[in-house]
Amino acid sequence: MPNFKINKIYNGDSAELLSNRHIFPNNSVDLIVTSPPYADRRKKQYGGPPPEKYMEWFLPLAIEFQRILKPRGSLILNIKENAGQGERHVYVLELILEMRKMEWFWIEDYIWHKRNVFPGKWPNRFRNAWEHCFHFTKQKDFRMYQDAVKVPIGDWANKRLKNLGANDRKRNMSQTDSGFSVQLTNWVGKRKVYPTNVLYLPTISANKNHCAVFPESLPTWFIKLFTQKGDVVLDPFIGSGTTAVAAIKTGRSFIGIDLSVEYIQVSRRVIREAMKSSKNQSETKPKVRGRINNKKLIITKRKADPAKIKRILKKGGYKNGEPPRGYEVHHIKPLAEGGKDTPKNIRVVKTTKHRQIHKNRRERGEE
Ligand SMILES: C[S@@+](CC[C@H](N)C(=O)[O-])C[C@H]1O[C@@H](n2cnc3c(N)ncnc32)[C@H](O)[C@@H]1O
Repeated sequence: MPNFKINKIYNGDSAELLSNRHIFPNNSVDLIVTSPPYADRRKKQYGGPPPEKYMEWFLPLAIEFQRILKPRGSLILNIKENAGQGERHVYVLELILEMRKMEWFWIEDYIWHKRNVFPGKWPNRFRNAWEHCFHFTKQKDFRMYQDAVKVPIGDWANKRLKNLGANDRKRNMSQTDSGFSVQLTNWVGKRKVYPTNVLYLPTISANKNHCAVFPESLPTWFIKLFTQKGDVVLDPFIGSGTTAVAAIKTGRSFIGIDLSVEYIQVSRRVIREAMKSSKNQSETKPKVRGRINNKKLIITKRKADPAKIKRILKKGGYKNGEPPRGYEVHHIKPLAEGGKDTPKNIRVVKTTKHRQIHKNRRERGEE
């Protein structure tokens, strides 16, 4: 019987711990999001293998990631090749090629554009203001919830979409000869659109107890894009616990590993605080929002229990206790009105139908 424990931080070497199938069974986590030590960086704090040995160090980890990740799960690697002796190292490029040989699919290179880097001067290049976030998967059919990361369409739409000419009403090829085509009428009435693959995020975060933290918004974005509530997120180099905090705040479970006892202590503290504040939020008193037929309409803060829903779906014959692609779980009687996570109250419906049901409810002022 595997000893798979969620919401836990392990102290030790990732390669060693992850190879323990008793603790980390096959196909058990939905997302791995991590920032591994870069080659030879932060020697004083936690070290990192030399660039020429990076591959040797990383590939056994990549094998375990592949084993532990669920078939439709994703791996996000935040990394940046540092420079040495006047040029950039190539170990990150080699790593992509090696991982493809191991039958990982390299889906995308998201760019984390660091919004607030300090100025600086180097003799042969400029200050670095971005890092890779490589997206790898085990198969081409992976889970991705693009609507969860939509962004406001932006001010350009107010002006441009107000005065559409005859040409804007048909599909036009881009004037830059890029081969892309656009039809502006598609955007009319839209408030939110899909983002690009560049994430404009600050460098610093509220957590200052680690020398190489990423901002909480970074794991949060990928957690929303590739998982749903109740899913399990693993960070094998968790440092000060940023990924765990992001998972807690988005209603996911986490598992973390770090070699440093000092960082483990920091992460356990920030995790305790995040759990406490998310518990406080879910226990806030019900709000009276209005009256329907002279009855108080009470909006409770009750949340769905993802683990219970998974069990119900599994019993109902859904693989891994998850709705198929393009479908979602719907509560017939909403939780806010006392509905519960029971087989009778749960239906798996098409995402489009689900959206329509809630749109209708909002129009009727019921939510
Ligand atoms: C770039 S930092 C991660 C920082 C983290 N994303 C955060 O926001 O705090 C890399 C972390 O990997 C840890 N580490 C280095 N080698 C390790 C190993 N072999 N196994 C587990 N953790 C390791 C370091 O202690 C460090 O905290």
